[in-house]
Amino acid sequence: MIEVTDMHAYYGKSHILQGVTMNIQEGEIVALLGRNGVGRSTTCKAIMGEVEPKGSVKFKGQEIAGKKAFEIANLGIGYVPENRDIFPGLTTRQNLTLGLKPGQKDGAGRWSMQQMFEMFENLDRRADVEASVLSGGEQQMLTMCRTLMGDPDFIMIDEPTEGLSPQMVQKVAEVLKEIANRGLSTLLVEQKLAIAMDIAHRVYVMGHGQVVFEGTPAELKEREDVRKEWLEV
Ligand SMILES: Nc1ncnc2c1ncn2[C@@H]1O[C@H](COP(=O)(O)OP(=O)(O)OP(=O)(O)O)[C@@H](O)[C@H]1O
Ligand SMILES: [Mg+2]
Repeated sequence: MIEVTDMHAYYGKSHILQGVTMNIQEGEIVALLGRNGVGRSTTCKAIMGEVEPKGSVKFKGQEIAGKKAFEIANLGIGYVPENRDIFPGLTTRQNLTLGLKPGQKDGAGRWSMQQMFEMFENLDRRADVEASVLSGGEQQMLTMCRTLMGDPDFIMIDEPTEGLSPQMVQKVAEVLKEIANRGLSTLLVEQKLAIAMDIAHRVYVMGHGQVVFEGTPAELKEREDVRKEWLEV
């Protein structure tokens, strides 16, 4: 589904991504782990074209490095950034509608607004309320649901459980599994090892702008050295 090869990215003169290579197959949940500041979000932004990538990014066999973010979105990649990205003056429902692609009708894709409201009753209760009054966690959910409304084939979700209550974390985990069940591929950026170990099929650990470990959650469990050096604080 997505194949990243020797990807580099810079902020000004800072060389942030130093040759990232990773792939995500259809229906797979892949977790991207690592300490603060190692370049996890930059990896998502570079794939999305929000930061210019050097190297190769192939999506369904097509080279997308160098394309603009909106073109990449239209090809079927969704990105849920770590900062809640809502339109505060619009209602929950209007925010969700804005997730549809140009010309796309609600319900035409894998997800409908009705299903979003069934999955997240908090959003349902606040469907016609300005999104600015939603709690941080609800805004997080809304951002994720809005991205799904665009019916992506591959979704990158940056720290979706940050600041959520344990029940909400559980809910997000269920939705991530449902996303995979519907055949989407997911890149899950997480700080919390537990959720990644629970739902990811494979794990990449990043350190200093490179992948330093690749394997299954079971394999990572066996590698105390990797966890000590690259994950524990
Ligand atoms: N817009 C920017 N301009 C300059 N430097 C940046 C910018 N965004 C991030 N950086 C730097 O790039 C490095 C990687 O940042 P990135 O946001 O990818 O980290 P991360 O792994 O997502 O960690 P976290 O989300 O915990 O901050 C950090 O050193 C950060 O300070
Ligand atoms: Mg980040």
